[in-house]
Amino acid sequence: MSRTRMSLLTALALLTGTSGAAIIAAPAGASTAAAPCTVDYKVQNQWDTGFTAAVTITNNGAAKSSWSLKWSYTGNQKISNGWNAKVSQSGSAVTAANESYNGTIPSGGSASFGFQASYSGTNAIPATFTLDGVTCNVDGGPTDPGPTDPGPTDPGPGGPKAANPYVGAKVYVNPEWSAKAAAEPGGSRISNQPTAVWLDRIAAINGVNGGMGLRAHLDEALKQKGSGELVVQLVIYDLPGRDCAALASNGELGPNDLDKYKSQYIDPITSILSESKYAGLRIATVIEPDSLPNLVTNAGGTNTTTDACVTMKSNGNYEKGVSYALDKLGALANVYNYIDAGHHGWLGWDSNLGPSVQEFAKVATSNGASMSDVAGFIVNTANYSPAKEPHFKVTDTVNGQTVRQSKWVDWNQYVDEQSFALGLRDKLVAAGFDSGLGMLIDTSRNGWGGSARPTGPGPLTSVDAYVDGSRIDRRIHAGNWCNQSGAGLGERPTAAPATGIDAYVWVKPPGESDGNSAAIPNDEGKGFDRMCDPTYGGNARNGNNPTGALPNAPLAGHWFSAQFQQLMQNAYPPLP
Ligand code: GLC
Repeated sequence: MSRTRMSLLTALALLTGTSGAAIIAAPAGASTAAAPCTVDYKVQNQWDTGFTAAVTITNNGAAKSSWSLKWSYTGNQKISNGWNAKVSQSGSAVTAANESYNGTIPSGGSASFGFQASYSGTNAIPATFTLDGVTCNVDGGPTDPGPTDPGPTDPGPGGPKAANPYVGAKVYVNPEWSAKAAAEPGGSRISNQPTAVWLDRIAAINGVNGGMGLRAHLDEALKQKGSGELVVQLVIYDLPGRDCAALASNGELGPNDLDKYKSQYIDPITSILSESKYAGLRIATVIEPDSLPNLVTNAGGTNTTTDACVTMKSNGNYEKGVSYALDKLGALANVYNYIDAGHHGWLGWDSNLGPSVQEFAKVATSNGASMSDVAGFIVNTANYSPAKEPHFKVTDTVNGQTVRQSKWVDWNQYVDEQSFALGLRDKLVAAGFDSGLGMLIDTSRNGWGGSARPTGPGPLTSVDAYVDGSRIDRRIHAGNWCNQSGAGLGERPTAAPATGIDAYVWVKPPGESDGNSAAIPNDEGKGFDRMCDPTYGGNARNGNNPTGALPNAPLAGHWFSAQFQQLMQNAYPPLP
């Protein structure tokens, strides 16, 4: 995993960095309509006073280099904001014109955009749409609005999704992790905790080296489920050119292997999950840790840019891969997709968070994906940022100075993951995501207990003294991410710990290394990232500080007994 945080100046440089292409291929089996265009207008989410909609235009005529779609409302719908099109309204008449990045629609291709609007009474779907003055076919026909996807808060026919899948459910205990944990002295205190199953390569679907494959896990999950409800947590983690800002978790697929990702990774997973015997399991998927955040902060115009991330942004394969995963997995009635959203020490500056929300919205409305494919987002995956800093808040001041100007906070808008998750959630909903969106926080290794944990606020002598004396996060720098010395297990997995938070989860299985501390030849595609080397002096992503990594670490994902012992030692809440 790469874990990046940026100074304000660096972060500001990113403001111009996003785009939002929404060109998608024509869906297989699209009707061969006589009209030169087809419009699919879907209300995605609707509440008392408002709604969001996703619109897809399919061009059945000659290629276009720009477009403008018009319709009129019969009711009092009033659009407040749009994405992936310039949407304007005068009275009841609406015009949606292309953005600079999605004006081109090849013959047979599509473009998608979305918007949020208010209404009262009936929210009738417009009967007529014109594209550049020509009337289009309406998917489903004017009298049949089609199945509006109600989103995760509102159970629909044929497979109701729970508002929060974790409520009233057990969570799957991975027997393979559990056995490793139980074999450690003292490990039986936590070996019955649920952790996620990482599908970190194609071979993991059938099982690596005789280990459990996906079906074996799901069969075991059915046993653990019994007659109750059970959530199985899967990490979808095999994008082309994976982990572009770091080396430790580079993967097996090259930057251009999008087709392989689709046909040999996502399709087989989807097909196994759709087997009827697994229909009663709730599947929570963590979608591609680090990938979209890397596109936002590390793919151009910053001192943290890497060539690999520039490549993945320009070839579009992270975006296409994530959209594909959301679309295919989200179509299954029992799957809940949670998109990875980094952590506060990476995206917590508004100048990073705004572009991140745009990036998430773009990917969730492109290439067949829609916002209704997204149950929520996860923060802090495999990272060490505390869920809560109990002894100081971002709004605190010392001698009239905001703690935001301390060296540790460095103008971030957040100091912990729970405030970050909820702040992000508000922005996502404002951008059109479902208002029932649920957040997950990976609390596997963010406890920061033990003897170094402050028991109260620091001295009020300066912002730095106050923050450094208060913070439970004992890292040298919040940009450090590899096998952090001094870390402890965090909150045990818990359903619905707060409004808007679906669960505290252990996605990173405690005891599995973040990366090797010295070069190790391997056949997993993994590189040697010096952020895992305790002797390294750092880079722009951690303010050129020492890495704080534990020595003698094995390859990412391999068992690291010394780390496991330290995590138990420094657990907070402490272990019995
Ligand atoms: C890292 C590794 C991956 C492993 C995961 C969970 O991301 O690259 O192979 O499955 O951590 O430990």
